[in-house]
Amino acid sequence: MSFSEKVFEAGIVPVVVLNNVEDAVPLARALLKGGICFMEITFRTECAAECISLISKEVPEVIVGAGTILNVDQAKTAVECGAKFIVSPGIDEETVRLAIENDIPVIPGAVTPTEIMKAISLGLKTVKFFPADVYGGIKAIKALSAPFGQVKFLPTGGVSEANLADFIGNKSVCAVGGSWVCKKDDVLDHDWDKITALAANAVKIIKETRA
Ligand code: 3PG
Repeated sequence: MSFSEKVFEAGIVPVVVLNNVEDAVPLARALLKGGICFMEITFRTECAAECISLISKEVPEVIVGAGTILNVDQAKTAVECGAKFIVSPGIDEETVRLAIENDIPVIPGAVTPTEIMKAISLGLKTVKFFPADVYGGIKAIKALSAPFGQVKFLPTGGVSEANLADFIGNKSVCAVGGSWVCKKDDVLDHDWDKITALAANAVKIIKETRA
């Protein structure tokens, strides 16, 4: 199965902010127990690279990637640590080219027609739509999918249990991103059962919507 097919099958790529290395593996296992096999570890904390490395070694069933990648140096670090994919809030051409040359899936943010055309010209078929709630949500994605029918969107930012079905129900949405299944406080509280329950509920909504 290709990376794109795996992302579609999962339907969700949780956005994870980890402040403590020791939380990485339990969180990966909690998400997996809830049926989610993707994690985007954001490069916003000191320990992000180490967390990716630990998860890729200890929980190989989880497809762990690096998020909030702003430049090519961060991308190189992430890949060296075992990141299986790269997500960026916007398009950094050097990062996209490096990823493509190394066969690493890369999903940069693109919300305007011009940015989406840029992504297409770089050879991409999937873009992150961020921050989804601010840039028009599913209404904007529907409008953009008319001229850009070949593009798949990963809406992130403001996605929740309440609007998950609206996004997932659209054919141009390959999956959603979001932090609601593993909120910062739940991770800090080590509330793994809650995270597993939120993950399982998200998976249930995705399955029911697609059925
Ligand atoms: C992010 O990169 O922070 C994501 O957009 C997460 O957004 P959310 O917290 O609204 O899910």
